Amino acid sequence: MLKEIYQPNPEFSANAAIKNMDEYNALMDKAKEDYEGFWKSFADEKIDWFKPYTKVLDESNAPFVRWFEGGKLNVAYQCVDRHIEKRKNKAAIIFEGDRGDKQVITYLELYYNVNRFANLLKEDFGVKKGDRVVIYMPMIPEAAYAMLACARIGAIHSIVFGGFSAEALRDRIEDAEAKVVITADGAYRKEKPYMLKPVVDEALSHGNSPVQKVLVVERNNEDVEWVAGRDYSYNELIKSKAAKCDPEPMDSEDPLFLLYTSGSTGKPKGVQHNQAGYILWAQMTMEWVFDVKENDTYWCTADIGWITGHTYIVYGPLAMGATTVMFEGVITYPDAGRPWKMVEEYKINQFYTAPTAIRVLHKTGENEPNNYDISSLKVLGTVGEPIDPPAWKWYYEVVGQSKCAIVDTYWQTETGGHIVSPLPGATPIKPACATLPLPGIMAEILDPQTGAKVGAGESGYMCITRPWPSQIRGVWGDPERFKKSYFGDVKKDGVPVYFTGDGANYDENGYITITGRTDDVINVSGHRMGTAEVEAAIKKHPNVAEVAVVGKPHEIKGEGIFAYVVLKSDNSVADEVEEVKAINKVIQKEIGNIAICDDIVFAPGLPKTRSGKIMRRILRAIAKSEAVTQDISTLEDPSVVEKIENMIKCKC
Ligand code: WT7
Repeated sequence: MLKEIYQPNPEFSANAAIKNMDEYNALMDKAKEDYEGFWKSFADEKIDWFKPYTKVLDESNAPFVRWFEGGKLNVAYQCVDRHIEKRKNKAAIIFEGDRGDKQVITYLELYYNVNRFANLLKEDFGVKKGDRVVIYMPMIPEAAYAMLACARIGAIHSIVFGGFSAEALRDRIEDAEAKVVITADGAYRKEKPYMLKPVVDEALSHGNSPVQKVLVVERNNEDVEWVAGRDYSYNELIKSKAAKCDPEPMDSEDPLFLLYTSGSTGKPKGVQHNQAGYILWAQMTMEWVFDVKENDTYWCTADIGWITGHTYIVYGPLAMGATTVMFEGVITYPDAGRPWKMVEEYKINQFYTAPTAIRVLHKTGENEPNNYDISSLKVLGTVGEPIDPPAWKWYYEVVGQSKCAIVDTYWQTETGGHIVSPLPGATPIKPACATLPLPGIMAEILDPQTGAKVGAGESGYMCITRPWPSQIRGVWGDPERFKKSYFGDVKKDGVPVYFTGDGANYDENGYITITGRTDDVINVSGHRMGTAEVEAAIKKHPNVAEVAVVGKPHEIKGEGIFAYVVLKSDNSVADEVEEVKAINKVIQKEIGNIAICDDIVFAPGLPKTRSGKIMRRILRAIAKSEAVTQDISTLEDPSVVEKIENMIKCKC
């Protein structure tokens, strides 16, 4: 194991928001001594309240908590309007298209664009406070305008990642009962147009859709079908809209957005985030973790379809008045020098990406960073899955030139923002380690049985023992599922605490290393995928009798998807290649390309207990070509284990 510790760069620390561990400890101590006072001081300093709140935290109905009750604010105002006075001509968004086209949007332009968009939604589409709006968009500035326009008028957006299929989009539209969808004709990928509008058409084609109107941003100008009375061109409608739309005063605890994510059942959960607490923590973590200064240029490579894109491309950077880069393309296209070329051109100071991207950039362009002047970089971030030490070392030494801080930010859709991460000017970092909880976040690794904090070198469950402002407020339409999913597994002193679903351990310094999910959720290229969701999709294939899906380590993706399929007919598949293709096609239709299996094996049966429970641990071991060490004598049919093992051996 790597034991190295790297001290923060002293030159950087001198100007950092949090300069050393004493400052970190002082903040943590303050939070421990006076939790509400800690949060109050930041809420008062950072948020432009329309009306002050009357109570910091209300836990009387825990785990349903309320922050900053009685306060009124508007998140679009917080992200845009309030910067006009000091920053009207500052770049808010720097956009680079897939084909290298560029656009700089100042705060004043952003203000006008968001106001017009808000007026369009209100006047032409009748969108009102509390209505749900689904956004199915490529990475173009209009996606950010759409989010902020919703926030401005109090509509609740639900962004669906553009890689999801029509079926997945339809499920999310219906669960949220959205009345409007905002999309684009399509966009560009590797210099070729791809389409989104036809996917929306298909999602809405089954009748009974709650969607009344579809707004289409014309980005690639490819031909699309228009349904009269339902579909409208943004480019046309926006022309006549007034550039002023008063921001709706929102209660601190009104919903801001929904974002669907996978859990351990087949149905994705609509994670709900509310106004004040979410935007407060988005802004605080931008300042603490990325240490963005007034003249900095910050780039996060995520997609707005994921929480990272919400908090750290749009809401966090704009709330603090920063310049955020938005990129439509693929970071390895036309070659693995693309991101470093952009860093050089825009003089990017903070760069935030996922381990899967770091691995692919390392593998396909190890020396590419040296071909560009990337000396502007100060902070490098990583998120989405545990990063492996070789990728970390390359990121640190080659991209960071051994002078940049690496912030391994651990968090999830439900936490709204970072929860465990180094502070770039203060925390000594250790390769592939998320280090310490951020000030104010009571993150602890607990023993799931006793609820006690585990000791150094021990593993346990990553929990958060106190409410925090940006925490998930509910699962849309399903309060019981909210309680069961997050507050059902671990109790501390008899009280249920928030459990992330991840395992973790402490080292001798109390540093936290996240080891991965403890449930049936796998992490493919930093995207959360429920095995039950993939299984439900595969079961839609008419010839599939049974299926079990597990994760298998994958060099680039972190984890790949491995499916064991039992067919209805018989187990001798006439044409395996065709059958695999057919199954992947079903997955593509039900979920999207991101869920396509890396391996599909046709098994004679699945290892089950006598009560019918599938023994996934055995299947995980076999997928990794590890020896099965569990006792299999109690299985319903122990011989299937050997049969499956032999089948896989034959293949390798
Ligand atoms: C899951 C959350 C957070 C935004 C992107 C993914 C894993 C996330 C790290 C990290 C180790 C990490 C966890 C978590 N994860 N960041 N730095 N080190 N694991 O959001 O889809 O909600 O997934 O990603 O397993 O629970 P998400």
